[in-house]
Amino acid sequence: MSKIDVAIIGASGYTGGELIRLLYKHPKADVTTITSRKQEGQHVSSLHPHLEDVDLTFTNPENKDIDADLVFLAVPHGASMKIAPDFIENDKKVIDLSGDFRFQSIETYEKWYGIKHEHPELEAVFGLPEINREQIKEAQLIANPGCFPTGAILSSLPLVENQLVDRIILDSKSGVSGAGVKANPTTHYPTCSDNIKPYAITSHRHTPEIREQLHNFGTHDTKISFTPHLVPVIRGIITTNHSYLIKDGVTADDVYSLYKDYYNDEPFVKVLHDNNVPLLASVRGTNYCEIGGISLDDEDQLVVISAIDNLTKGASGQAIQNMNIMMGYDETSGLDHLGLYP
Ligand SMILES: NC(=O)c1ccc[n+]([C@@H]2O[C@H](COP(=O)([O-])OP(=O)(O)OC[C@H]3O[C@@H](n4cnc5c(N)ncnc54)[C@H](OP(=O)(O)O)[C@@H]3O)[C@@H](O)[C@H]2O)c1
Repeated sequence: MSKIDVAIIGASGYTGGELIRLLYKHPKADVTTITSRKQEGQHVSSLHPHLEDVDLTFTNPENKDIDADLVFLAVPHGASMKIAPDFIENDKKVIDLSGDFRFQSIETYEKWYGIKHEHPELEAVFGLPEINREQIKEAQLIANPGCFPTGAILSSLPLVENQLVDRIILDSKSGVSGAGVKANPTTHYPTCSDNIKPYAITSHRHTPEIREQLHNFGTHDTKISFTPHLVPVIRGIITTNHSYLIKDGVTADDVYSLYKDYYNDEPFVKVLHDNNVPLLASVRGTNYCEIGGISLDDEDQLVVISAIDNLTKGASGQAIQNMNIMMGYDETSGLDHLGLYP
């Protein structure tokens, strides 16, 4: 089968750059269009210096003139909902990395994002393959999950689905690339280096996304609290998942076995050998979510740790995983390389 042509809208940003990097050696997809409003006419390496060998130049065409089988939208929320219909109408497959199409409830989207949804009629599949693989195969529009929700949901699913807990506290630490390429005071080096900043306490937009998805698997009574922290690393999210076991007689070994079985067939979720603790360093640049450090104290309080790379399993790698599923390719195509350590 010949390769498909892929376009990346917003390719000047961090997730766009990561898509180009990961797709460079993809056996079934060629990136043929990379767009940027500001970098038009510049070689890709003008913004992504590690992509020197990639033969691509930023362009800024009208959407209707983009000839591609599949389009990644790597632009901010609010922009995606305006762009997606142009491609959907032309029967292209679309994978949106923003939050615009992630919510089953438009009211929830509008409340948490503070803007009116312009295309609530467009139906998207929430692109977390570990829960929606069958629907992704048939989808035209994929809402790629948020970075924090990916690690948070994967660390919670076995507990919620088996109703072992009724409240979860998610304490997440993210690297600075999660905020995108545009400089801002929070990510300015003297502000974020040598520092840890809790932010959006009880108000982060990923909270309702995590809740909506987990409630599909458990009961709507499961309470979810989520607090992100900005830490002085470039890539990666560690989520420490705290909960309280409501079933008697369950041991930490039982929970570890539950996770092992639950994710046994998943190519990109690794429940670590010997329940080792996941590390940011070992998932960097990879599409893996590592889970481990599963521990229970003498008051039945459970801790589970997950680690992902926010730009890969948390964004562009997962988007390519979704592309592979949509196109009927091997799900791991272009994504099965190991991480870096140290
Ligand atoms: N960074 C992460 O870890 C991460 C993880 C998961 C999901 N996401 C989501 O993925 C999307 C992209 O994130 P990112 O970190 O790559 O962002 P980014 O680094 O800020 O890049 C986004 C790019 O989109 C273009 N853009 C901005 N506004 C636009 C508009 N109104 N219309 C068309 N293009 C526009 C810009 O390029 P030009 O100005 O050159 O046109 C910009 O370089 C966002 O929705 C983000 O929430 C990010």
